[in-house]
Amino acid sequence: LRIAVMVSGGGTNLQAIIDGIKDKTITNTEIAAVISNNADAYALTRAKDNGIEAICVSPKSYETRDEFNKALLEKVNSLNVDLVVLAGFLVKIPEEMVHQYSHRIINIHPSLIPSFCGVGFYGLHVHEAALAKGVKVTGATVHYVDEGMDTGEIIFQKAVEVKEGDTPEILQKRVMEEAEWKLLPAAINMIANKERN
Ligand code: GRF
Repeated sequence: LRIAVMVSGGGTNLQAIIDGIKDKTITNTEIAAVISNNADAYALTRAKDNGIEAICVSPKSYETRDEFNKALLEKVNSLNVDLVVLAGFLVKIPEEMVHQYSHRIINIHPSLIPSFCGVGFYGLHVHEAALAKGVKVTGATVHYVDEGMDTGEIIFQKAVEVKEGDTPEILQKRVMEEAEWKLLPAAINMIANKERN
């Protein structure tokens, strides 16, 4: 399975995929390239450190959002991948790309969808909202990407306990370690090793 991983930040989910390929929890998979909208994303450094093509397609380089969307899709198409993996990618996927890659884009979200998802629920905000609500259990979800935000068919979910005294940062780390970094590699491996996705 040839994949492109799209990132915006630190790239710990990308690292989990890289490590998963190395330790064979993910088989029959190669990362064709890592694409970020953010030139400063440490995820791009992780790619380079692992000999993986690191590409930046920045909205700042384009006059309009439409031109950015077009450039992003052209770049992805040029890679000839089977699957696009959103790993902390904070830009909405252009509708045209969702249509061209129907059922071939997956995303990891740091909550049990449909809780704490949709516009505005990204990064620490997700965990701030969970703590504000006082949920006893949260977790992560990996799902197919459709036209909406965090609305596509769910592939895997994993629950994570909220503990007394949790801050958003502590909870985020636990959700990453116990759920995100397990679910995303598992979903890629599942898709790589079944007839059709
Ligand atoms: C984190 O908030 C993570 O929960 C979500 O994307 C953000 C960045 O993750 N999936 P990463 O370290 O860049 O993979």
